[in-house]
Amino acid sequence: TPRIFSGIQPSGGLTLGNYLGALKRFAEKQDEGIETIYCLVDLHAITVWQDPERLRQQTREAAAGFMASGIDPTRSILFNQSQVSAHAELGWILNCVARLGWMNRMTQFKDKAGKNAEQVSLGLYAYPSLMAADILLYHATHVPVGDDQKQHVELTRDIAAKFNHDYGVDFFPMPEPVIEGAATRVMSLRDGTKKMSKSDPSDASRINLTDDADTIAQKIRKARTDAEPLPETLEGLKDRPEARNLVNIYAALSGMTAEAVVGQFAGQGFGAFKPALADLAVAKLSPISTEMTRLMADPGEIDRILGEGADRAEAIARPILDRTLDIVGMVRSR
Ligand code: TYM
Repeated sequence: TPRIFSGIQPSGGLTLGNYLGALKRFAEKQDEGIETIYCLVDLHAITVWQDPERLRQQTREAAAGFMASGIDPTRSILFNQSQVSAHAELGWILNCVARLGWMNRMTQFKDKAGKNAEQVSLGLYAYPSLMAADILLYHATHVPVGDDQKQHVELTRDIAAKFNHDYGVDFFPMPEPVIEGAATRVMSLRDGTKKMSKSDPSDASRINLTDDADTIAQKIRKARTDAEPLPETLEGLKDRPEARNLVNIYAALSGMTAEAVVGQFAGQGFGAFKPALADLAVAKLSPISTEMTRLMADPGEIDRILGEGADRAEAIARPILDRTLDIVGMVRSR
């Protein structure tokens, strides 16, 4: 039977990229009746410096973002990673399975470390094997993610295969990345060649789930574009990354295909397309930010939900960790 696992780092505010690439699809999977487990990966967040009080705040805010996006904590399991210690424990075992050469190929590490690879944390380097632990700890079969996480899910498969092979077992199933929809890679509003990211220094480059209606509309109005009207077909957007990005966002928010969006706006300029996109974005996103504000007014309730989610996650994870420790040859006497 399928089981879905996915995670988001509470290392900053949630963006439209997180919503279209992840949260919206997480809610759809839940609504299809699949077993869904969603995790705020706070242990991953501290691979780069996080102010403790802000981290706590952002974890609660991200939990509110999940619920405001349609994740129902009674139908999905919603929890923060550090409350289920099995993640860190399996992460260590997988550190001993994964190879340095595999880690060296991770493009996200290379991007984040930049020229400063000697100064980043050891945790940032090991990040992908903790992510593998997240997924394998639940024997998850499907992992919905944005395009940028594909390499990490493929590495998870390599780690699972090596574990099974080394210990001569058929224990960890091979998880599949699920990358679907019109906006698997939402780009910056200021530069169509860069990913929209919570860590971009320019706030105008992204839409935050907490932005109010005026801010959303203004950011879309000021989004960088070219001066050409929209073409008749998608083919005509090939070398127009900013235009293509806005079309993809429109498609994902409206549930249309990108082809249909281009068809509808063919021949029109951004003077017409941007206001339509702004209206759509405000209609879809401002109820989310309103609901987040409402939920954030009761942090005690959010903590209760995360604690209950952690109990349910632990009930699945602990027996799988126990079997892993047996397979690896650890004495188990209590
Ligand atoms: P993170 O926190 O960077 O992003 C969370 C999810 O949002 C997607 N995403 C995007 N999708 C489309 N366009 C964008 N601009 C965009 N920005 C972010 C990401 O692809 C991701 O699906 N390593 C993961 C967190 C993680 C995880 C896991 C995911 C830890 N353990 C286990 C799946 C399974 C990360 O940093 O995501």
